[in-house]
Amino acid sequence: MFDFYTTKKPSKETISIYPVRTDEFNDWFESRSDATKSQINVARFTAKPGETVIVRNAKGELKRVYYGVSNPVSAYDVATLPEFLQSRLSDETLANDVFELKDISDKEEIEKLILGWGLGCYKFDKYKTGEKTKNVWPILRLPKGFEKHTILNLLSGIFTCRDLINEPSNKLGPQELVERAKDIAKEFKADCKIIHDKDLLKQNYPMIFTVGDSSERRPALIDIRWGNKKDPMITLVGKGVCFDTGGVNVKPGQFMRNMKKDMGGAAHVLGLARAIMLSGLKIRLRVLVPAVENAVSGRAFRPDDVYPTRKGITVEIDNTDAEGRLILSDSLYEASSEKPELIIDFATLTGAARIATGHEIPPFFSNRHELEHDIKKVSFEVEDPVWPLPLWKGYRKELNSDIADICHMGKGRAGHITAALFLQEFVGNETPWVHFDVYGWSDANYPGKPKGGRDMGLHTTFEYLLRKYAA
Ligand code: BES
Ligand code: MN
Ligand code: ZN
Repeated sequence: MFDFYTTKKPSKETISIYPVRTDEFNDWFESRSDATKSQINVARFTAKPGETVIVRNAKGELKRVYYGVSNPVSAYDVATLPEFLQSRLSDETLANDVFELKDISDKEEIEKLILGWGLGCYKFDKYKTGEKTKNVWPILRLPKGFEKHTILNLLSGIFTCRDLINEPSNKLGPQELVERAKDIAKEFKADCKIIHDKDLLKQNYPMIFTVGDSSERRPALIDIRWGNKKDPMITLVGKGVCFDTGGVNVKPGQFMRNMKKDMGGAAHVLGLARAIMLSGLKIRLRVLVPAVENAVSGRAFRPDDVYPTRKGITVEIDNTDAEGRLILSDSLYEASSEKPELIIDFATLTGAARIATGHEIPPFFSNRHELEHDIKKVSFEVEDPVWPLPLWKGYRKELNSDIADICHMGKGRAGHITAALFLQEFVGNETPWVHFDVYGWSDANYPGKPKGGRDMGLHTTFEYLLRKYAA
């Protein structure tokens, strides 16, 4: 359980937090007492989403908190609240008082606010020494029926995802990622098989070995299985590049910064897997994570090289910085060989994806139109937007190679589409498949999405699966 939620009856009086709709601010303000009015004015509170005011009585005691809400209510309306209260209140108040969200009765709106509060309590400061940033969060009292709500499982998965992305690469190489995956498997008594280093060649994962061979920190394939054999099988695949230098076609410095996040796909599927297992969804889950480092070294693969793949076709290498699709090709081929009900992959695959839809919305691709439609719809309902882009066959010829069966890179501007088309060669069309090309990062502080590792499409996929396979 998170330390910023409680289900206990508070010993002291709870402090009520009231929403104020932006468009009702004027009437609301007029009906306040003079003492309250002046505090509202001092705080310059106008009930815009993200604005908050603390109201005290004549003795200076904390009485109420008001916050601005949008119409309809957004999870992010309360995401700034925990940090705001933390900065204004004493540690003693924070430790002893319990906050309660009032006047929102719609179940879906409450779910949003509870999630928003939790997202507002995320911080990654484990490497800060000396004067630690304040880490006592205000405590929210969960309404009845929310003690074991799936929203808490989702939040737990989101924190796992962000923590993994934020971990620097010197602390999280392929082996450490393997250890994290093992820990997660153990938590749920899931089966966890690891294929290490040269065994990748023996067991026919040549592309994972080839990319990972560039590094002293040896590659591995993580393979987790969980759930009841009778339930429909869902396979998750996540790009686990623990650092992407670009290989011998090395990235310029400004593009190499933040490349610790290139295992963001792995972080997403491991976080999502935790949320699924915590919620006991009626699915048979498989999680595949190729874990490698794309390093510059004398052993690194090169442009012009030709390698075999698990599928059997040969790939000609163009730029070694397009490494993600190579390790995913073997993983997706393995995933599809079992014909699960659905394959979902997450990958920080291309810079082009961000050009296409910006840093807020990851594009996604699917070989099924219903999936495109349903996932997009869910995503806007849960405020975790994703947008479908086409697997346009017209660009497939860009992947033709002069000397091998396929080249791994397109030549045009739609790098996100040709990357997805390359992946499609290995999943095929028999198994329904969804591919998310995620940025996985907040470039600045946004409410509930602080600068650093950021989940994108995790909530959406969880909600999609929850609606279909709820326990
Ligand atoms: N990991 C990068 C893509 C990336 C870069 C994602 C920045 C998010 C932020 C990937 O391995 C890569 O380098 N892609 C290249 C592919 C190109 C060489 C075809 C890209 O998108 O520039
Ligand atoms: Mn790369
Ligand atoms: Zn990469």
